[in-house]
Amino acid sequence: MTNKKKRMLVLLMILLNEVGLTRAPALSNCLWSDGDCSNMGLTSVPQDLSPTITFLNLDNNALTTLNQSDFSRYSNLMFLELRSNRISVINSGAFFNLTRLTWLYLDNNQLTSLPANMFIGLNSLWELVLENNTINAFPIEALSNLNSSVLGHVDLSNNQMDTLPPAAYDILDSISTVDITNNPWQCDCRMLPFKRRMTSFPAFEKQIICAGPSNHEGKACYMLYILTI
Ligand SMILES: *[C@@H]1O[C@H](CO)[C@@H](O)[C@H](O)[C@H]1NC(C)=O
Ligand SMILES: *[C@@H]1O[C@H](CO)[C@@H](O)[C@H](O)[C@H]1NC(C)=O
Ligand SMILES: *[C@@H]1O[C@H](CO)[C@@H](O)[C@H](O)[C@H]1NC(C)=O
Ligand SMILES: *[C@@H]1O[C@H](CO)[C@@H](O)[C@H](O)[C@H]1NC(C)=O
Repeated sequence: MTNKKKRMLVLLMILLNEVGLTRAPALSNCLWSDGDCSNMGLTSVPQDLSPTITFLNLDNNALTTLNQSDFSRYSNLMFLELRSNRISVINSGAFFNLTRLTWLYLDNNQLTSLPANMFIGLNSLWELVLENNTINAFPIEALSNLNSSVLGHVDLSNNQMDTLPPAAYDILDSISTVDITNNPWQCDCRMLPFKRRMTSFPAFEKQIICAGPSNHEGKACYMLYILTI
């Protein structure tokens, strides 16, 4: 390598370094605005924020996976927003240590199921918003880990659930307000044990509008006299 080329290389490296340095504060934008990290193209949860933040907004980023202990250093979090990412995997222990978390927003993601232990230790959780994912089975195990005298609102609307096991009845009945509208409910014999528990009083029963079988399409499940086999 000639001296000239070497000098060029050194210059290039200095330039690249400068670019790196000027980019660094982009992440710290989150730091300065107390947990507002929305719209930053993030592919992982930033680990360099103040451990005392109570509010973290990660809406509109590019997260696909939530890993174990991704948030555990932020153990004061009360408010966690993860809307409109591409989250399809929540690994076990992702929300470990978040004993004060009260509001959790996961709407507009690509979740198909919830891990059974996802909510363990979330003793303060009041609201779970899971609207507009592709969840295809009612998350009985996950929800049974929450304290129903604390939990006030669950939104599972606009998902892909097609039936409800009878055990889901007690869970739905124990939460003050639930939204399970806009799911492709199949009012067939699989729904029968759940249907037998209906009393036509709780609001959630009226949200179950049949998407099929075709002879029941558009009808309210609780008003049906027979379910189609
Ligand atoms: C999550 O953990 C997996 C390994 O378990 C790793 O490959 C991946 O990069 C991690 N993702 C993030 C966003 O940290
Ligand atoms: C949980 O939070 C406490 C601080 O409240 C911290 O000392 C501990 O290391 C955290 N645990 C993990 C696994 O990060
Ligand atoms: C549902 O979520 C997807 C992202 O997964 C988004 O593109 C779409 O706009 C959302 N739909 C509504 C009605 O919010
Ligand atoms: C549920 O929450 C109530 C009210 O905060 C509390 O008294 C009770 O001990 C909690 N139950 C469990 C099993 O944590």
